[in-house]
Amino acid sequence: MLSAAIVEMLNEQINLEFYSSNLYLQMGAWCDQEGLEGGAAFLSGHAEEERSHMTRLWGYVSESGGLPKLGAIAEPTSEFESIKDLFDQVFEHEVYVTSRINALVQAAFDEKDMTTFNFLQWYISEQHEEEALFRSVLDKIKVIGMEGKGLYFIDQELSKLADQAAAAEAEPVA
Ligand SMILES: [Fe+2]
Ligand SMILES: [Fe+2]
Repeated sequence: MLSAAIVEMLNEQINLEFYSSNLYLQMGAWCDQEGLEGGAAFLSGHAEEERSHMTRLWGYVSESGGLPKLGAIAEPTSEFESIKDLFDQVFEHEVYVTSRINALVQAAFDEKDMTTFNFLQWYISEQHEEEALFRSVLDKIKVIGMEGKGLYFIDQELSKLADQAAAAEAEPVA
């Protein structure tokens, strides 16, 4: 049985994951318009992943006898100065998401809600992986640089990452 406070926090997280999904979908469209097909594939694939983070939470609240509820979802940013600006914003957003997950874990622990505490461990590892992934994208952008053919090579790297993520997604879950 979930407390009302935990249900409220889980529902806020549902909204945040939905926002993340919309943000990355929108960012993917920006890449497309800039001719960055790898970036578009990577970000739209990641939008799907964020949606699955949302449905995982949705299922948990529902199974636990709570009511999952969608609130208003803010309009995502659609203008970026450059691909670096875009990924700076992605990284900043993921750091914020991690802080929200940490607050949820802390609240579950304080309430001695060990079922929710245990459920949230998956999100802790996921945030660690995502921060590392997006940090590696920023590192690549820095090393390659955006001048000359830089954008082309950055896009190639993003295309590889999109393929890797799709392959990981296709792997059967052990
Ligand atoms: Fe997420
Ligand atoms: Fe994320």
